[in-house]
Amino acid sequence: MKTVALIGYGYWGPNLLRNYMELPGATVKWVCDSRPEALAKAHARYPTVAGTTDYREVLADAQVDAVLIATPISTHFPLAKDALLAGKHVFVEKPMTGSTAEAVDLVELAVAQGLTLMVGHTFVFSPPVRKVKEIIDSGELGDIYFVTSSRVNLGLHQKDASVVWDLAPHDLSILHYWLEESPNGVSVAGRACINPGIPDVAFINLRFPSGIVAELQVAWLSPVKLRRTIVVGSRKMLLYDDTESVEKVKIFDHGVDFKDPQTFGEFQLSYRTGDIVSPKIAGSEPLFLEASHFVECLETGGRPITDGAAGLAVVASLEAADYSLRNGGCMRSIITGSGSS
Ligand SMILES: NC(=O)c1ccc[n+]([C@@H]2O[C@H](COP(=O)([O-])OP(=O)(O)OC[C@H]3O[C@@H](n4cnc5c(N)ncnc54)[C@H](O)[C@@H]3O)[C@@H](O)[C@H]2O)c1
Repeated sequence: MKTVALIGYGYWGPNLLRNYMELPGATVKWVCDSRPEALAKAHARYPTVAGTTDYREVLADAQVDAVLIATPISTHFPLAKDALLAGKHVFVEKPMTGSTAEAVDLVELAVAQGLTLMVGHTFVFSPPVRKVKEIIDSGELGDIYFVTSSRVNLGLHQKDASVVWDLAPHDLSILHYWLEESPNGVSVAGRACINPGIPDVAFINLRFPSGIVAELQVAWLSPVKLRRTIVVGSRKMLLYDDTESVEKVKIFDHGVDFKDPQTFGEFQLSYRTGDIVSPKIAGSEPLFLEASHFVECLETGGRPITDGAAGLAVVASLEAADYSLRNGGCMRSIITGSGSS
Protein backbone atom coordinates (compact mmCIF):
# COMPACT_ATOMS: atom_id res chain seq x y z
CA MET A 1 0.00 0.00 0.00
CA LYS A 2 1.54 3.34 -1.08
CA THR A 3 0.75 6.61 0.67
CA VAL A 4 0.33 9.61 -1.64
CA ALA A 5 -0.37 13.32 -1.27
CA LEU A 6 -1.99 15.63 -3.82
CA ILE A 7 -0.74 19.19 -4.31
CA GLY A 8 -3.21 21.37 -6.24
CA TYR A 9 -6.99 21.04 -5.92
CA GLY A 10 -8.22 23.41 -8.66
CA TYR A 11 -9.87 22.19 -11.87
CA TRP A 12 -7.85 19.00 -12.49
CA GLY A 13 -6.75 17.95 -8.98
CA PRO A 14 -10.23 16.66 -7.98
CA ASN A 15 -10.11 14.19 -10.91
CA LEU A 16 -6.78 12.82 -9.68
CA LEU A 17 -8.05 12.60 -6.10
CA ARG A 18 -11.23 10.76 -7.14
CA ASN A 19 -9.22 8.13 -8.99
CA TYR A 20 -6.55 7.66 -6.32
CA MET A 21 -9.29 7.28 -3.67
CA GLU A 22 -10.59 4.31 -5.68
CA LEU A 23 -7.21 2.63 -6.17
CA PRO A 24 -6.77 -0.52 -4.10
CA GLY A 25 -2.96 -0.04 -3.90
CA ALA A 26 -2.88 3.55 -2.62
CA THR A 27 -4.01 5.67 0.32
CA VAL A 28 -4.34 9.44 -0.06
CA LYS A 29 -3.14 11.04 3.18
CA TRP A 30 -2.96 14.74 2.25
CA VAL A 31 -4.47 17.32 -0.04
CA CYS A 32 -2.52 20.55 -0.25
CA ASP A 33 -3.73 23.76 -1.86
CA SER A 34 -2.67 27.33 -1.16
CA ARG A 35 -6.37 28.37 -1.27
CA PRO A 36 -8.25 27.44 1.95
CA GLU A 37 -11.55 27.37 0.01
CA ALA A 38 -10.17 24.61 -2.22
CA LEU A 39 -9.21 22.61 0.89
CA ALA A 40 -12.70 23.10 2.30
CA LYS A 41 -14.16 21.57 -0.88
CA ALA A 42 -11.79 18.61 -0.67
CA HIS A 43 -12.61 18.11 3.02
CA ALA A 44 -16.37 18.18 2.40
CA ARG A 45 -15.97 15.39 -0.15
CA TYR A 46 -13.22 13.33 1.53
CA PRO A 47 -13.24 14.05 5.32
CA THR A 48 -10.60 11.40 6.04
CA VAL A 49 -7.94 13.17 3.98
CA ALA A 50 -5.85 15.78 5.85
CA GLY A 51 -5.57 19.28 4.40
CA THR A 52 -2.81 21.88 4.40
CA THR A 53 -1.95 25.10 2.59
CA ASP A 54 1.80 24.49 2.94
CA TYR A 55 3.31 21.76 0.77
CA ARG A 56 6.36 21.58 3.04
CA GLU A 57 4.14 19.94 5.67
CA VAL A 58 3.41 17.16 3.18
CA LEU A 59 7.09 16.73 2.27
CA ALA A 60 8.05 16.52 5.97
CA ASP A 61 5.69 13.58 6.50
CA ALA A 62 7.82 10.42 6.46
CA GLN A 63 4.75 8.28 5.71
CA VAL A 64 4.25 9.93 2.31
CA ASP A 65 5.81 7.85 -0.48
CA ALA A 66 4.78 9.99 -3.45
CA VAL A 67 3.32 13.37 -4.36
CA LEU A 68 0.93 14.16 -7.19
CA ILE A 69 1.36 17.70 -8.53
CA ALA A 70 -1.64 19.34 -10.23
CA THR A 71 -0.73 23.02 -9.93
CA PRO A 72 -0.12 25.65 -12.66
CA ILE A 73 2.81 24.95 -15.03
CA SER A 74 5.16 27.58 -13.57
CA THR A 75 5.06 25.83 -10.17
CA HIS A 76 5.77 22.28 -11.46
CA PHE A 77 9.56 22.58 -11.35
CA PRO A 78 10.03 24.03 -7.84
CA LEU A 79 7.44 21.67 -6.31
CA ALA A 80 8.73 18.55 -8.10
CA LYS A 81 12.33 19.43 -7.28
CA ASP A 82 11.59 19.94 -3.58
CA ALA A 83 9.62 16.69 -3.50
CA LEU A 84 12.46 14.69 -5.10
CA LEU A 85 14.98 16.32 -2.72
CA ALA A 86 12.71 15.25 0.17
CA GLY A 87 12.91 11.65 -1.10
CA LYS A 88 9.37 11.46 -2.54
CA HIS A 89 8.41 9.83 -5.84
CA VAL A 90 6.73 12.36 -8.13
CA PHE A 91 3.78 12.35 -10.50
CA VAL A 92 3.57 15.77 -12.15
CA GLU A 93 0.88 17.01 -14.49
CA LYS A 94 1.58 17.88 -18.12
CA PRO A 95 3.59 19.71 -19.30
CA MET A 96 6.31 18.48 -16.93
CA THR A 97 8.01 21.89 -16.62
CA GLY A 98 8.01 25.35 -18.21
CA SER A 99 11.44 24.92 -19.86
CA THR A 100 13.74 22.26 -21.27
CA ALA A 101 16.51 23.15 -18.80
CA GLU A 102 14.13 22.52 -15.87
CA ALA A 103 12.98 19.25 -17.43
CA VAL A 104 16.59 18.05 -17.78
CA ASP A 105 17.22 18.99 -14.12
CA LEU A 106 14.22 16.97 -12.90
CA VAL A 107 15.13 13.91 -14.97
CA GLU A 108 18.70 13.98 -13.64
CA LEU A 109 17.58 14.58 -10.06
CA ALA A 110 15.12 11.67 -10.15
CA VAL A 111 17.89 9.36 -11.41
CA ALA A 112 20.36 10.64 -8.79
CA GLN A 113 17.79 10.12 -6.00
CA GLY A 114 16.69 6.72 -7.34
CA LEU A 115 13.05 7.93 -7.42
CA THR A 116 10.21 7.51 -9.91
CA LEU A 117 9.26 10.55 -12.00
CA MET A 118 6.09 10.23 -14.06
CA VAL A 119 4.26 12.84 -16.15
CA GLY A 120 0.48 13.16 -16.59
CA HIS A 121 0.34 12.45 -20.31
CA THR A 122 -3.15 11.09 -19.75
CA PHE A 123 -3.97 10.33 -23.39
CA VAL A 124 -1.21 7.71 -23.50
CA PHE A 125 -3.48 5.71 -21.14
CA SER A 126 -6.62 6.23 -23.19
CA PRO A 127 -7.91 2.96 -24.73
CA PRO A 128 -8.41 4.38 -28.27
CA VAL A 129 -4.87 5.84 -28.25
CA ARG A 130 -3.61 2.43 -27.08
CA LYS A 131 -5.55 0.74 -29.88
CA VAL A 132 -4.03 3.05 -32.51
CA LYS A 133 -0.56 2.24 -31.15
CA GLU A 134 -1.34 -1.50 -31.55
CA ILE A 135 -2.51 -0.91 -35.13
CA ILE A 136 0.58 1.12 -36.05
CA ASP A 137 2.91 -1.45 -34.43
CA SER A 138 1.20 -4.32 -36.26
CA GLY A 139 2.23 -2.74 -39.58
CA GLU A 140 -1.39 -2.66 -40.80
CA LEU A 141 -1.06 0.97 -41.91
CA GLY A 142 2.31 0.37 -43.61
CA ASP A 143 4.93 3.11 -43.36
CA ILE A 144 3.47 6.23 -41.76
CA TYR A 145 3.53 9.18 -44.18
CA PHE A 146 1.96 11.88 -42.01
CA VAL A 147 -0.35 12.73 -39.09
CA THR A 148 -2.75 15.64 -38.85
CA SER A 149 -4.85 16.58 -35.84
CA SER A 150 -7.37 19.16 -34.63
CA ARG A 151 -7.84 19.90 -30.92
CA VAL A 152 -10.08 22.97 -30.94
CA ASN A 153 -13.11 24.20 -28.99
CA LEU A 154 -14.39 27.28 -27.21
CA GLY A 155 -11.88 26.63 -24.44
CA LEU A 156 -10.99 28.19 -21.12
CA HIS A 157 -8.38 30.94 -21.75
CA GLN A 158 -5.45 30.30 -19.37
CA LYS A 159 -3.78 33.26 -17.64
CA ASP A 160 -0.23 31.92 -17.50
CA ALA A 161 0.05 29.64 -20.54
CA SER A 162 -0.60 29.83 -24.28
CA VAL A 163 -2.80 27.33 -26.09
CA VAL A 164 0.43 25.66 -27.25
CA TRP A 165 1.49 24.80 -23.67
CA ASP A 166 -2.08 23.96 -22.62
CA LEU A 167 -3.34 21.72 -25.44
CA ALA A 168 -0.38 20.65 -27.60
CA PRO A 169 1.18 18.46 -24.83
CA HIS A 170 -1.68 16.01 -25.47
CA ASP A 171 -0.90 15.60 -29.18
CA LEU A 172 2.87 15.74 -28.72
CA SER A 173 2.73 13.01 -26.06
CA ILE A 174 0.44 10.88 -28.25
CA LEU A 175 2.81 11.24 -31.23
CA HIS A 176 5.83 10.42 -29.05
CA TYR A 177 4.06 7.26 -27.89
CA TRP A 178 2.79 6.18 -31.30
CA LEU A 179 5.85 6.94 -33.39
CA GLU A 180 8.54 6.23 -30.77
CA GLU A 181 10.54 9.20 -31.99
CA SER A 182 10.68 12.89 -31.16
CA PRO A 183 10.32 15.64 -33.75
CA ASN A 184 13.56 17.36 -34.72
CA GLY A 185 12.04 20.53 -36.16
CA VAL A 186 8.95 22.68 -35.69
CA SER A 187 7.42 25.77 -37.24
CA VAL A 188 4.32 27.47 -35.87
CA ALA A 189 1.87 30.08 -37.09
CA GLY A 190 -0.41 31.42 -34.37
CA ARG A 191 -2.15 34.44 -32.95
CA ALA A 192 -3.26 35.96 -29.67
CA CYS A 193 -6.82 36.90 -30.62
CA ILE A 194 -8.28 37.71 -27.17
CA ASN A 195 -5.54 38.26 -24.53
CA PRO A 196 -2.59 40.20 -25.90
CA GLY A 197 0.58 38.14 -25.55
CA ILE A 198 -1.17 34.79 -24.91
CA PRO A 199 -1.71 32.95 -28.22
CA ASP A 200 -5.09 31.20 -28.35
CA VAL A 201 -4.73 29.60 -31.79
CA ALA A 202 -1.71 27.82 -33.27
CA PHE A 203 -0.92 25.66 -36.28
CA ILE A 204 2.09 23.55 -35.37
CA ASN A 205 4.10 21.84 -38.12
CA LEU A 206 6.46 19.10 -37.04
CA ARG A 207 9.06 17.07 -38.89
CA PHE A 208 10.51 13.82 -37.60
CA PRO A 209 13.90 12.17 -38.24
CA SER A 210 12.18 9.27 -40.07
CA GLY A 211 10.64 11.69 -42.61
CA ILE A 212 7.15 11.63 -41.05
CA VAL A 213 5.54 15.08 -40.95
CA ALA A 214 2.69 16.17 -38.67
CA GLU A 215 0.41 19.15 -38.28
CA LEU A 216 -1.36 19.96 -35.01
CA GLN A 217 -4.12 22.57 -34.87
CA VAL A 218 -4.85 23.82 -31.34
CA ALA A 219 -7.29 26.60 -30.41
CA TRP A 220 -9.47 27.88 -27.58
CA LEU A 221 -11.63 29.58 -30.21
CA SER A 222 -13.85 27.37 -32.32
CA PRO A 223 -17.61 27.03 -32.88
CA VAL A 224 -17.37 23.23 -32.47
CA LYS A 225 -15.29 20.86 -30.38
CA LEU A 226 -12.94 18.76 -32.50
CA ARG A 227 -10.64 16.05 -31.16
CA ARG A 228 -9.73 14.44 -34.44
CA THR A 229 -6.51 12.82 -35.65
CA ILE A 230 -5.79 11.29 -39.05
CA VAL A 231 -2.85 8.94 -39.61
CA VAL A 232 -1.98 8.22 -43.22
CA GLY A 233 0.19 5.22 -44.03
CA SER A 234 1.44 3.56 -47.20
CA ARG A 235 -1.09 0.69 -46.87
CA LYS A 236 -4.07 2.07 -44.94
CA MET A 237 -5.34 5.24 -43.28
CA LEU A 238 -6.86 5.79 -39.85
CA LEU A 239 -9.20 8.25 -38.20
CA TYR A 240 -9.24 8.69 -34.40
CA ASP A 241 -12.11 10.89 -33.25
CA ASP A 242 -12.25 11.21 -29.48
CA THR A 243 -15.62 13.01 -29.57
CA GLU A 244 -17.31 9.88 -31.01
CA SER A 245 -19.11 7.87 -28.33
CA VAL A 246 -18.63 4.43 -29.92
CA GLU A 247 -16.58 4.29 -33.12
CA LYS A 248 -13.61 6.34 -31.94
CA VAL A 249 -11.14 4.61 -34.28
CA LYS A 250 -11.77 3.76 -37.93
CA ILE A 251 -9.32 2.05 -40.26
CA PHE A 252 -9.79 2.82 -43.94
CA ASP A 253 -8.45 0.38 -46.50
CA HIS A 254 -7.84 3.36 -48.75
CA GLY A 255 -4.68 4.28 -50.57
CA VAL A 256 -2.91 5.16 -53.76
CA ASP A 257 -0.46 2.73 -55.34
CA PHE A 258 2.25 3.73 -57.71
CA LYS A 259 2.59 1.31 -60.61
CA ASP A 260 5.94 0.89 -62.29
CA PRO A 261 6.00 2.53 -65.73
CA GLN A 262 5.34 0.11 -68.62
CA THR A 263 7.21 2.35 -71.03
CA PHE A 264 9.79 5.02 -70.35
CA GLY A 265 8.32 8.22 -68.94
CA GLU A 266 4.88 6.77 -68.16
CA PHE A 267 3.53 5.96 -64.72
CA GLN A 268 0.11 5.06 -63.39
CA LEU A 269 -1.56 5.58 -60.06
CA SER A 270 -4.23 3.17 -58.86
CA TYR A 271 -6.70 4.41 -56.23
CA ARG A 272 -8.07 1.97 -53.68
CA THR A 273 -11.19 2.57 -51.56
CA GLY A 274 -11.92 -0.63 -49.66
CA ASP A 275 -13.46 -1.54 -46.31
CA ILE A 276 -13.80 0.74 -43.30
CA VAL A 277 -13.36 -1.15 -40.01
CA SER A 278 -13.94 0.15 -36.48
CA PRO A 279 -12.24 -2.04 -33.84
CA LYS A 280 -13.85 -2.72 -30.46
CA ILE A 281 -12.31 -0.58 -27.75
CA ALA A 282 -12.53 -0.97 -23.96
CA GLY A 283 -14.36 1.77 -22.06
CA SER A 284 -11.94 2.17 -19.12
CA GLU A 285 -11.17 5.63 -17.70
CA PRO A 286 -7.69 6.81 -18.82
CA LEU A 287 -7.04 8.58 -15.47
CA PHE A 288 -7.68 5.39 -13.49
CA LEU A 289 -5.31 3.46 -15.77
CA GLU A 290 -2.72 6.24 -15.39
CA ALA A 291 -3.03 6.21 -11.58
CA SER A 292 -2.82 2.38 -11.48
CA HIS A 293 0.32 2.51 -13.65
CA PHE A 294 2.01 5.02 -11.32
CA VAL A 295 1.27 2.94 -8.22
CA GLU A 296 2.39 -0.24 -10.00
CA CYS A 297 5.71 1.46 -10.94
CA LEU A 298 6.16 2.48 -7.28
CA GLU A 299 5.59 -1.12 -6.20
CA THR A 300 7.79 -2.79 -8.82
CA GLY A 301 10.40 -0.07 -9.38
CA GLY A 302 9.45 -0.24 -13.08
CA ARG A 303 9.89 2.68 -15.47
CA PRO A 304 6.66 4.57 -16.24
CA ILE A 305 5.58 4.69 -19.89
CA THR A 306 5.25 8.45 -19.49
CA ASP A 307 8.53 8.89 -17.63
CA GLY A 308 10.68 11.98 -17.21
CA ALA A 309 12.30 11.44 -20.62
CA ALA A 310 8.86 11.49 -22.28
CA GLY A 311 8.02 14.66 -20.33
CA LEU A 312 11.31 16.23 -21.42
CA ALA A 313 10.69 15.37 -25.11
CA VAL A 314 7.32 17.13 -24.98
CA VAL A 315 8.69 20.20 -23.18
CA ALA A 316 11.58 20.52 -25.70
CA SER A 317 9.03 20.54 -28.56
CA LEU A 318 6.86 23.12 -26.75
CA GLU A 319 9.82 25.40 -26.11
CA ALA A 320 10.93 25.23 -29.75
CA ALA A 321 7.31 25.79 -30.88
CA ASP A 322 7.16 28.90 -28.69
CA TYR A 323 10.36 30.23 -30.25
CA SER A 324 9.01 29.71 -33.77
CA LEU A 325 5.69 31.35 -32.84
CA ARG A 326 7.48 34.42 -31.49
CA ASN A 327 9.82 34.59 -34.51
CA GLY A 328 7.50 34.69 -37.49
CA GLY A 329 7.01 30.93 -37.83
CA CYS A 330 10.67 30.08 -38.53
CA MET A 331 11.67 26.39 -38.60
CA ARG A 332 13.24 25.70 -35.19
CA SER A 333 15.41 22.65 -34.52
CA ILE A 334 14.47 20.56 -31.49
CA ILE A 335 17.32 19.07 -29.52
CA THR A 336 15.93 17.00 -26.66
CA GLY A 337 18.20 17.00 -23.66
CA SER A 338 20.12 20.20 -24.10
CA GLY A 339 17.55 22.69 -25.31
CA SER A 340 16.86 23.83 -28.86
CA SER A 341 18.81 25.90 -31.33
N1 LIG B 1 -3.84 15.54 -17.88
C1 LIG B 1 -4.85 16.28 -18.30
O1 LIG B 1 -5.62 15.88 -19.16
C2 LIG B 1 -5.01 17.65 -17.71
C3 LIG B 1 -6.21 18.35 -17.87
C4 LIG B 1 -6.32 19.62 -17.29
C5 LIG B 1 -5.25 20.18 -16.62
N2 LIG B 1 -4.08 19.47 -16.52
C6 LIG B 1 -2.91 20.05 -15.85
O2 LIG B 1 -3.16 20.12 -14.45
C7 LIG B 1 -2.44 21.22 -13.89
C8 LIG B 1 -3.40 22.09 -13.09
O3 LIG B 1 -4.34 22.65 -13.97
P1 LIG B 1 -5.73 23.22 -13.42
O4 LIG B 1 -6.52 23.58 -14.63
O5 LIG B 1 -6.29 22.31 -12.41
O6 LIG B 1 -5.23 24.57 -12.71
P2 LIG B 1 -6.03 25.41 -11.59
O7 LIG B 1 -5.45 26.77 -11.63
O8 LIG B 1 -7.51 25.22 -11.78
O9 LIG B 1 -5.65 24.69 -10.21
C9 LIG B 1 -4.38 24.74 -9.67
C10 LIG B 1 -4.48 24.70 -8.14
O10 LIG B 1 -3.16 24.68 -7.60
C11 LIG B 1 -3.15 25.52 -6.44
N3 LIG B 1 -1.75 25.93 -6.21
C12 LIG B 1 -0.98 26.75 -6.97
N4 LIG B 1 0.26 26.85 -6.45
C13 LIG B 1 0.27 26.07 -5.34
C14 LIG B 1 1.27 25.76 -4.37
N5 LIG B 1 2.51 26.25 -4.45
N6 LIG B 1 0.93 24.96 -3.33
C15 LIG B 1 -0.32 24.44 -3.23
N7 LIG B 1 -1.30 24.71 -4.12
C16 LIG B 1 -1.02 25.50 -5.17
C17 LIG B 1 -4.09 26.65 -6.78
O11 LIG B 1 -4.57 27.30 -5.61
C18 LIG B 1 -5.19 25.93 -7.54
O12 LIG B 1 -6.23 25.50 -6.70
C19 LIG B 1 -1.78 21.95 -15.08
O13 LIG B 1 -0.45 21.52 -15.21
C20 LIG B 1 -2.59 21.47 -16.27
O14 LIG B 1 -1.83 21.48 -17.49
C21 LIG B 1 -3.96 18.24 -17.03
